[in-house]
Amino acid sequence: MTSPESPASVLDEGRIAQAAQRLLAGGLVAFPTETVYGLGGDAENPQAIERIYAAKGRPSNHPVIVHVAPEADLLHWASSVPEAAQRLIDHFWPGPLTLILPRAEHIPAAVAGGQDTIGLRCPSHPVAQALLRAFAALKPSGQGGVAAPSANKFGQVSPTRAAHVRAEFPELGDDTLIILEGGASQVGIESTIIDLSRLEQGVGPVLLRPGHITAEQIAAVLGGPVGLPDAAAPRVSGSLKAHYAPRTPLRLVPGDALTAAVQQALQAGGSVALAVFQPTGLTHPGIVAEHQCAADPNTFARDLYHLLRMLDAFRAGQIIMQAPPDTPAWRAVCDRLGRAAAAFEG
Ligand code: TXA
Ligand code: MG
Repeated sequence: MTSPESPASVLDEGRIAQAAQRLLAGGLVAFPTETVYGLGGDAENPQAIERIYAAKGRPSNHPVIVHVAPEADLLHWASSVPEAAQRLIDHFWPGPLTLILPRAEHIPAAVAGGQDTIGLRCPSHPVAQALLRAFAALKPSGQGGVAAPSANKFGQVSPTRAAHVRAEFPELGDDTLIILEGGASQVGIESTIIDLSRLEQGVGPVLLRPGHITAEQIAAVLGGPVGLPDAAAPRVSGSLKAHYAPRTPLRLVPGDALTAAVQQALQAGGSVALAVFQPTGLTHPGIVAEHQCAADPNTFARDLYHLLRMLDAFRAGQIIMQAPPDTPAWRAVCDRLGRAAAAFEG
């Protein structure tokens, strides 16, 4: 795989102004972030949220992350910003961290899937920030938030390039969906989500979704432990077991079982696309690809969704992927891969 182009692409101010106007009119704009591309709409316009759900084919009871510019007034969105949240913001924003806070009363519940919380994230990507600033400037309150899930159909692989978004929504032309270019997303997997909405009830902080920023880093900044989700935690769609899946069945196989798994798949007359950490040394016409994965978890994460799309394009009988190490550094990657593979279990 070639190394992805830099996200420091030219900022097209005219295009960003057009996109901000589109958001103001209740329309949809796909935009780059450092994690994945988002499918954005005005967070305060329930009809825009409805359009996002319709385009994604996503159930409308799922909450959506609200993206804000670095200078946003968070009390426009959240009824309170606890000290723990402020500490995480000072440390990790702008960046791949989403905070779940109690929702301010005047913010429509549609963006929160009806829950009394709000998910807030300030992305670091320059195109995302330019869009968020341009949009906020158009709002009478001076506060503008862009609600955006990942710009893919529900349950499918998230996009890390503008070309992925175009491939995902071939039915939507520029008059329905503006797609802003921003190069390849450098983090490559969705933001870490931390629930801080129940601190007053004595619950939390709780890790709802692992990501590039680890629970250990968050615990170090907060000076206390970070919990794992319980039944009362806000719902997170990425936490459905089958998610992030390519169309080709994906199997995760430990290194020592790899050769046997490939041979078994080939014996049945099938074809396989492989992604491994060390070359297998196997040659067979049924092996349509053997991709060498990065040994570093951050590089692996950056390339992951592009790799899954690439392997999917071979239309092999199976994608067989060597399971990454089961260590904290690989937690976010293992989470996404586990869900992608779960889509094909049982
Ligand atoms: O990196 C990311 O977070 C990307 C980019 C575009 O920023 N966005 C993303 O969005 O992954 P999405 O919708 O695929 O995942 C957002 C998650 C959802 O699983 C949602 O349930 C959770 O954040 N979330 C958003 N608002 C919430 C709220 N009010 N309460 C609880 N969870 C919330
Ligand atoms: Mg998603």
